Amino acid sequence: MTIYRATVLDTPDSPFDGAALRTGTDIGLRVVEGVITRRDSFEAVAREYPDEQVVDLSDGILLPGFVDTHVHFPQLRVIGALGMPLLDWLDRAALPEELRMADDEQAARVAKGFLRGLREAGTTTALVFGSHFASAMDVFFSQARASRIRIISGLVVSDRILPEGLLTTPERAYQESIDLARRWHGVGRLHYAVTPRFSLSAGEEMLAACGRVMKEIDGLYFTSHVNENKREVEEVEELFSGLDYTSTYDVHGLLGRRSVLAHDVHPKDEELSMMAARGTSVAHCPTSNSALGSGLFPLKRHVEQGVSVALGSDVGAGTGYCLLKEGLQAYFMQQLLADEGFPLTAAHLLHLATRAGAVALDLGDRVGDLSVGREFDAVWIRPQNGDPLDMGIEYAKDSEDALAKIFALGTTDDIASVWVGGERL
Ligand code: GUN
Ligand code: ZN
Repeated sequence: MTIYRATVLDTPDSPFDGAALRTGTDIGLRVVEGVITRRDSFEAVAREYPDEQVVDLSDGILLPGFVDTHVHFPQLRVIGALGMPLLDWLDRAALPEELRMADDEQAARVAKGFLRGLREAGTTTALVFGSHFASAMDVFFSQARASRIRIISGLVVSDRILPEGLLTTPERAYQESIDLARRWHGVGRLHYAVTPRFSLSAGEEMLAACGRVMKEIDGLYFTSHVNENKREVEEVEELFSGLDYTSTYDVHGLLGRRSVLAHDVHPKDEELSMMAARGTSVAHCPTSNSALGSGLFPLKRHVEQGVSVALGSDVGAGTGYCLLKEGLQAYFMQQLLADEGFPLTAAHLLHLATRAGAVALDLGDRVGDLSVGREFDAVWIRPQNGDPLDMGIEYAKDSEDALAKIFALGTTDDIASVWVGGERL
């Protein structure tokens, strides 16, 4: 049992529904077996439990742990390959590196760096795009379990267009996915996600096999890419005889409350209403969309149609693990869209990086904010004394202003501690 004393900022209610940032100044959070059991002024909590250990975090700001809803484990070493649109970037940067995951030793090294990247960025929950190799996924899951971060991931499957070494058959994809899911789904904080790379590289039979895996085991997740790049969207529609991109997944029963589609930069209105109806979420990946020149994300249309949106770093097309950077880039993008953009406040950015991700991953009853009943997943922002962020926070006129400065200036260096389920990483 521990009492954490801190200034706490979170968004239990959505700013997209008009709710304000929740600001708790000098709060006491009592955590028992990883779960927040009491939240009040520090004075009241300390009076009630005078003998309990106090962790004093007053010299900083406590936020909920970040939730990254789209990040690729095998792409750590290709971050920063600039100047290419999606399909060229896949051919020249991402896929050659992904082929190297056939070697378990390479996979182990990359997995280690990847999990370190998440931890240092304060990411406490992540939906991770995996590798095309089943044995690399065993390596990854075993390290992910030891990291204690909440990880949802799965074998990436494809049967066309990609380099030969990354292809499989629907039968083999089905069997390897089932075997991995039985080994890892529900173990520690891990869950399994059925993961065709994208409809461009997964034909009808492969997507049907994915649908069979989803039916076979309860509670699995589904993730893939959608509507990222105009040329990709055209090619998918040609391959599927005019079917829209979202429907290529839907016809195989792949869209539900535990489904997350990355990007959705170029959706049709019918696709947005289908996603809303299915309870399917979109992972918005702003640094990736900017780096690949994919386009400006139509957040306003998603919000108006009731599609749930959260943030993804999309490493390695994205430029780093830190969701503070993604939040800031999301803000820039909406500014650039002018009248078509959704004007984002610091409260929206925090929501997108925390609570919205938890909801997108159907974990809203467990994590995403620092209310009583949630697990203690938190990041402590504490810049060095006298550095620009420290001075900015000191000067901030209120807590929302301080939060805006955290998004504008904050980096992984400002993340002093990270907890998952009450365990300090
Ligand atoms: N579409 C299919 N694969 C990928 C990938 O690795 N990154 C991105 N950004 N889009 C994809
Ligand atoms: Zn991706």
